[in-house]
Amino acid sequence: MKNKLATKIFAAFLAGSASAGAAEIKTLPEPDLNQPSPALMQLLNTRKSERSFDKDKKIDDQTLSEILWAAYGKNSYDRRTVPTAMNQKNLKVFVLGEDGVWIYNPELNQLEKISDENTISYLAKQDYVFDAPVHLVYTSSDKRWGYDHAGSAYQNVYLYATAKGLATVVRGFADFDALHDALKLSEEEFAIIHQPIGYPK
Ligand SMILES: Cc1cc2nc3c(=O)[nH]c(=O)nc-3n(C[C@H](O)[C@H](O)[C@H](O)COP(=O)(O)O)c2cc1C
Repeated sequence: MKNKLATKIFAAFLAGSASAGAAEIKTLPEPDLNQPSPALMQLLNTRKSERSFDKDKKIDDQTLSEILWAAYGKNSYDRRTVPTAMNQKNLKVFVLGEDGVWIYNPELNQLEKISDENTISYLAKQDYVFDAPVHLVYTSSDKRWGYDHAGSAYQNVYLYATAKGLATVVRGFADFDALHDALKLSEEEFAIIHQPIGYPK
């Protein structure tokens, strides 16, 4: 009952971002929560920013599902993998790639396509960005706490990347004004930060 209500609320929440007409939906594989991983302290000890990506090595849907779940997935107790102020769950996570722009729905473990546009050039400004196969962009309408939420999410992705031998770096150097329109954000919403991820070169 509670889950159904949450799903309806999230669908309404997404409606502002979704384009008119039938949305293209991709249901992601279930994240594997039992995979072996180095101990948390080892992950913290070896986390680092990496700016070199193998552009020929794509991220498969299983890995993408786990990246997104680490960033902002639904965990036990109907919570998220990151805390949000007053449990508002008001972070949004977008996935940008050559095939367009998608928004993550953690309730349904799905991606919904909002545009066919390749927007990676808005993120670039540093050439290595073009080599990464997956780009996460965190957005919010919460001027007070949105940045905190994004920070929690990108650190989770750093730790997942460290465990899986993936390369990632968090980036503030992007054209967030252009992204605002490309992501179909409302006036109150803003793009906070970008996180490319892929296999290291
Ligand atoms: C808020 C924030 C913005 C950042 N913006 C960029 C950026 O635009 N480009 C970039 O190459 N690295 C960026 N970084 C990564 C930092 O340069 C990096 O975290 C720092 O050099 C420390 O390296 P480490 O992450 O390996 O510990 C950013 C980091 C943070 C936290």
